Amino acid sequence: MTNREIKISFQEYTSVKELDTDDQSLCNEAVKAMVNSHSPYSKFRVGAALRLQSGKIIHGSNQENVAYPSGLCAERVALFYWGANHPDDPIESMAVTAHTDEFILNKPVTSCGSCLQVIAEYEKKQNKPIKTILFCKDGPVWVTRGIESFLPFLFFEDRLS
Ligand code: THU
Repeated sequence: MTNREIKISFQEYTSVKELDTDDQSLCNEAVKAMVNSHSPYSKFRVGAALRLQSGKIIHGSNQENVAYPSGLCAERVALFYWGANHPDDPIESMAVTAHTDEFILNKPVTSCGSCLQVIAEYEKKQNKPIKTILFCKDGPVWVTRGIESFLPFLFFEDRLS
């Protein structure tokens, strides 16, 4: 038996102001995206913004439903919009933020497993990693280069052959 370890690396910044101007403005877009969050049940607003290779920005926000499982996370709202409307314009980066009036968020939200799986699918589709920037107003900023930092044991199609 051999014990093996996988190291996951990401960058931590103390504030959005430390990011380059493109990333800072993408974070501002994620904040704007939160405005249309429909979250009457959790009262937890999430905003996501994608920057495409052409420079186009796509917004997504969490959309909840009284039938809870019918709702969708901000990341997938933005990612599926991209898949449906701009699949030939690769996603370079995604910024995600959240806010609630119920308590102070001092750590960024990290995407749920279903959103991670969708990021994985689209990285494969566009054959390019998606840089992800996770941040909140009163906490650090976490930046990863792509899905492998989140899902090192991702299922890859090559295992099927
Ligand atoms: N949510 C997101 O939109 N993205 C995440 O990364 C985590 C959770 C939403 C789903 C639900 O509307 C609310 O946040 C509380 O879970």
